[in-house]
Amino acid sequence: MDRRQISQLAHADHPIAAPLADDTVRRLLDRAVGTDAERVLDLGCGRAEWLQWLLALNPRVRAEGVDTDAGALALGRSGAEDLAVADRLALHEADAAAFTSPHPFDVVLSVGAAHAFGGLLPTLAAAREHLAPGGRVLIGDGFWEREPDTAALDGLGAAADEYDDLATTVDRVVADGWTPVYGHVSTLQEWDEYEWCWTGSLAQWALDHPDDPGSATAYRAAADHRAGWLNGYRHTLGFVTLVLRVSP
Ligand SMILES: C[S@@+](CC[C@H](N)C(=O)[O-])C[C@H]1O[C@@H](n2cnc3c(N)ncnc32)[C@H](O)[C@@H]1O
Repeated sequence: MDRRQISQLAHADHPIAAPLADDTVRRLLDRAVGTDAERVLDLGCGRAEWLQWLLALNPRVRAEGVDTDAGALALGRSGAEDLAVADRLALHEADAAAFTSPHPFDVVLSVGAAHAFGGLLPTLAAAREHLAPGGRVLIGDGFWEREPDTAALDGLGAAADEYDDLATTVDRVVADGWTPVYGHVSTLQEWDEYEWCWTGSLAQWALDHPDDPGSATAYRAAADHRAGWLNGYRHTLGFVTLVLRVSP
């Protein structure tokens, strides 16, 4: 069982792969898409949950998603078919950092995928390449709620310089030429729901499939993740989602 299969099982009950509640996702999409956006791109879309929601809520919108995970994209396609929005969704199996398109987009999303670009500012640089004049970016990334200790860094497999605190994170985005027009900081409740779903879905699958060759690996991955979270980065890793426009 590889990392992608583990991630797929772990997201069974929380398909948005970020610590965000359903009503938060809806609110962020409302703010980003408004009443005028028609073309939306998601860089690192995973199973295209954001785009499926968006298309179901906005019949005028057409969307494209980019991800390297073929299994996640297949789930996205079948989800879009179930919602009868597949005719307005194009999913590309590609490296988001190298993706090119013949047309610009009114909204560019990238949530939890900054590692694909080498960090938050490179992700924004890529988004800017795709953005139509007057467009909006919806971006979600981590930050440090407090100085990370060794247990937090070990639990995440992260380095201390991977993130900044919230104020510094937003300052860097502003200095890069962006104006936040909305934002959301994930609550502890959203984090706990996300992590309990992640670890619980995976552990449950392992318990229900004791004869599967991947069962022991899945069970161990759930236990390790739970320990890394509860003994490590809970209360230390934050997550901020910003809606941005290019500054004048
Ligand atoms: C934490 S998930 C977020 C998925 C989705 N944005 C969401 O919020 O549900 C990160 C995604 O980035 C994708 N990814 C990682 N590297 C990538 C790359 N170079 N190009 C495109 N996608 C990539 C992964 O396959 C994964 O689906």
